[in-house]
Amino acid sequence: MVSEDINKPQRFLGEEEIEKTLRPLSFQGFIGQKDLIDHLMVSIQATKKRKEALDHVLFYGPPGLGKTTLAHIIASELGVNVHTTTGPALERKKDIASILSNLEDHDILFIDEIHRLNRSVEETLYPAMEDFALDIIIGQGPSAKTIRLDIPKFTMIGATTRAGMMTSPLRARFGIIHRLNFYNENDLAEIILRDSGVLSIKIDKDASYEISKRSRGTPRIAIRMLKRVRDYAQIKGDGNIDLKITKYALDKLKIDEMGLDEVDKEILKIIIEKYNGGPVGIETISIAIQEAKETIEDVHEPYLIQIGFIKRTQRGRVITNTALKYLKYKGYDEKGLF
Ligand SMILES: Nc1ncnc2c1ncn2[C@@H]1O[C@H](COP(=O)(O)OP(=O)(O)OP(=O)(O)O)[C@@H](O)[C@H]1O
Ligand SMILES: [Mg+2]
Repeated sequence: MVSEDINKPQRFLGEEEIEKTLRPLSFQGFIGQKDLIDHLMVSIQATKKRKEALDHVLFYGPPGLGKTTLAHIIASELGVNVHTTTGPALERKKDIASILSNLEDHDILFIDEIHRLNRSVEETLYPAMEDFALDIIIGQGPSAKTIRLDIPKFTMIGATTRAGMMTSPLRARFGIIHRLNFYNENDLAEIILRDSGVLSIKIDKDASYEISKRSRGTPRIAIRMLKRVRDYAQIKGDGNIDLKITKYALDKLKIDEMGLDEVDKEILKIIIEKYNGGPVGIETISIAIQEAKETIEDVHEPYLIQIGFIKRTQRGRVITNTALKYLKYKGYDEKGLF
């Protein structure tokens, strides 16, 4: 990992272990996203009372905000097994058919990257989700027959960073749909303090806020920064993470005070300098900075909108005065920057 990558919200190879250790196992340990948690707790309690399977749940939102964590918490709160797979791993109809027929009643099937399911797998899921049934074709040619097999009453939990890429028939089959939002500074600082406890790291409160401010509202990034700052505290300090060593480490790692990375800055620069502050379309930005449109839409744009640096309008993205001020531009008018 190069230092500039530290604030990418996608999971790096090898980070799975640490995430598993830190993953809260119950709603109690899950910090923030209060509205979502309140709703889920009601649904779970009601389901338990009725002794039914929970409605299918869809979580969407930027990477690293806790979708996978929540799927596991729901399973443990319901006291059921969770089976995990991903959209691209389900290549053929029979992959999904065999998973579905091996579930137990009320089990959870977690499908990550659910927007990447192929058509035939997706079509197999429709009757499975709706009627808990699998339609199997027996024989070939004109004598082929479809028979319907019952499968256990399960709960599907889907997760995606790209809800817009899901087909509407699939989306319509989820009874509970929630968007995960970026975390505020207080919640992130609390996550950092909690995780420091688990990892036996000594950290001051103001240091936890400093990390929180720079981690793009994203727990995954906050955890990663905490680990990197700990290294600095051990080598350059006395092991204790205070504000001074935190600032020193994060500056060394070239983490901007708002958590912006090079790509964010390029996006802003293009909108300001090449398109007079916008409006400009995502495709144009994508070509201009040579970065995939999907990455801009999933990772960069949501955060830049969240912090009020760009606005989405009918005609494209526009820069805000907040961004101009932060980047120390004096301003711009129709003729360009002045
Ligand atoms: N609300 C939270 N409270 C405490 N820790 C959290 C919370 N949300 C996420 N985390 C931590 O952040 C890590 C990343 O979360 P998770 O893997 O659930 O994100 P994700 O939304 O599934 O990401 P992706 O879209 O990349 O799959 C977890 O291992 C967990 O330790
Ligand atoms: Mg995940």
